[in-house]
Amino acid sequence: MTAELISGTEVAREIRAELKQEIAELKEKHNLVPGLVTILVGEDPASQVYVGQKEKTSHNLGIYSERYDLPADTSQEDLLALVDKLNKDPKIHGILVQLPLPKHINETKVLFAIDPKKDVDGFHPVSLGKLMIGEPDYLPCTPHGIQQLLIRSGVKIEGAEVVIVGRSNIVGKPIANILLQKQEGANATVTICHTRTKDLAFHTRRADILIVAAGKAKAITADMVKEGVVVIDVGVNQIGTTADGKRILSGDVDFENVKEKASAITPVPGGVGPMTITMLMLNTVRAAKLAAGLI
Ligand SMILES: NC(=O)c1ccc[n+]([C@@H]2O[C@H](COP(=O)([O-])OP(=O)(O)OC[C@H]3O[C@@H](n4cnc5c(N)ncnc54)[C@H](OP(=O)(O)O)[C@@H]3O)[C@@H](O)[C@H]2O)c1
Repeated sequence: MTAELISGTEVAREIRAELKQEIAELKEKHNLVPGLVTILVGEDPASQVYVGQKEKTSHNLGIYSERYDLPADTSQEDLLALVDKLNKDPKIHGILVQLPLPKHINETKVLFAIDPKKDVDGFHPVSLGKLMIGEPDYLPCTPHGIQQLLIRSGVKIEGAEVVIVGRSNIVGKPIANILLQKQEGANATVTICHTRTKDLAFHTRRADILIVAAGKAKAITADMVKEGVVVIDVGVNQIGTTADGKRILSGDVDFENVKEKASAITPVPGGVGPMTITMLMLNTVRAAKLAAGLI
């Protein structure tokens, strides 16, 4: 079997087109323009690229965006004061603090300071707690993107054995919670694996849907999956550089060999990656609608 490709680029384009239309309607019918602010502290090149992409996507969709580029030596106090000011700004519906923050700043403290109503990243404990009890305001962007990829590719989630490799707070744990909920697009039986799992392959071979977020290039090999599995590869690992200096990326799955057994698989790049920013935009629109009492 050679797997069908699940293209995050395509699905993200589809969702962005829907959002663009919704944003235009919000402006026309309610004079409401969703507003997103991104805060970047320091000059980490990867973070600068991500923030740039978020700004560009906001602009393309008609979302009002503000960007703060703060020096690396910004104090925690100053950053908290800025978050507090933005919490009170009615033009701003979503606040995104780009991680990682410099070491002298306590990330948890800053993320907890964001008003949960503006927590479009979905990392605030209020957002995660609401997700856990099946009453979410905002789903974290990458896990939400994974769920949408599955739904929009016609993968049956209900009743499926879903095995997740990785238990991070930003991917593994929230995607487990999302797919476990008693609702449409979920209702899966979920197993979470990590580095202390006794026999990883025993679990991965049981998977109807295998979601890998380990951060280890090609950690999942063809002998670890069953025929017909659907594979979502979240990993982004740099495994080299081209002669002209471009990064060579690999997922956490040995794509070339696993695709021969899988029924569907996401590529890296072009799989989960494009979904993350798209779901951030979706959360920003949702935040604006919640603030305006439209939901
Ligand atoms: N495309 C996107 O938009 C996007 C977004 C987020 C992340 N990512 C990528 O996804 C990957 C994971 O990110 P993350 O932030 O979730 O990573 P993380 O915080 O480093 O967590 C990795 C998890 O995988 C587990 N793990 C690592 N190696 C393993 C192995 N050999 N067997 C079993 N479990 C293993 C770890 O177990 P322990 O808990 O026991 O250490 C941990 O729970 C990274 O490559 C990251 O770049 C992509």
